[in-house]
Amino acid sequence: MPERIDLFDAIDTQRGIRYFRPDPVPDELITRLLQAAIKAPSGGIRQGWSFIVIRDQETRRKIGALYRTGTRFEIRPDMTSQERRVYEAAQYLEDHIEDVPVLILACIQTDPGTTLPGSSIYPAVQNILLAARGLGLGSVLTTRQMRFEEELKQMLNIPEGVATAALLPIGFPAEGARYGPTRRRPLEEVAFSDRWGESWQHQASGQS
Ligand SMILES: Cc1cc2nc3c(=O)[nH]c(=O)nc-3n(C[C@H](O)[C@H](O)[C@H](O)COP(=O)(O)O)c2cc1C
Repeated sequence: MPERIDLFDAIDTQRGIRYFRPDPVPDELITRLLQAAIKAPSGGIRQGWSFIVIRDQETRRKIGALYRTGTRFEIRPDMTSQERRVYEAAQYLEDHIEDVPVLILACIQTDPGTTLPGSSIYPAVQNILLAARGLGLGSVLTTRQMRFEEELKQMLNIPEGVATAALLPIGFPAEGARYGPTRRRPLEEVAFSDRWGESWQHQASGQS
């Protein structure tokens, strides 16, 4: 296991990694990611999640073929350079998905009566992303497997009543694929104090 990093370093520097080294990922690390996943909360502690770890080359090749049948990302002239970079990287990942050493498909039961099943799987997905950062691995949350969900479910024997929530590529980051710090909209813009529109004012610790 690599040296541990601080929880907040992991949170502040976790970012979408879409370029990977071809090196295999030890099972021990994958198990650690999955252990992190199942510590997540879920509605009513139902834990209706399942995680399919896909390493088999032939299966990855077939998944790559499915991605090639889907629509491509549309790069529009009005996009910012940041948006364009993300879309190009996302397209690169889809074009090379079969070369990623491990794919984890996060699935969730969609029992009748369950509302918002996504709320009960994405916390687990986020735990995987953070754990990957902690272990020196890269990943990114992707959801575009939904375009060919039925074919994917058939290929992987996923039963009725189970949906695919995210496909996470997992591998060691390629040379030049770096973790954050990430840039986000500032807190003052998105966090309010007591009522909508009253910007959250940072209070230094020790002040009341
Ligand atoms: C619901 C959701 C769907 C996403 N789908 C994809 C995707 O299909 N492909 C991809 O490469 N990234 C996908 N992302 C990753 C976002 O693009 C990424 O989190 C965002 O660009 C922030 O970039 P950063 O991780 O570099 O900070 C998705 C993220 C979320 C939350």
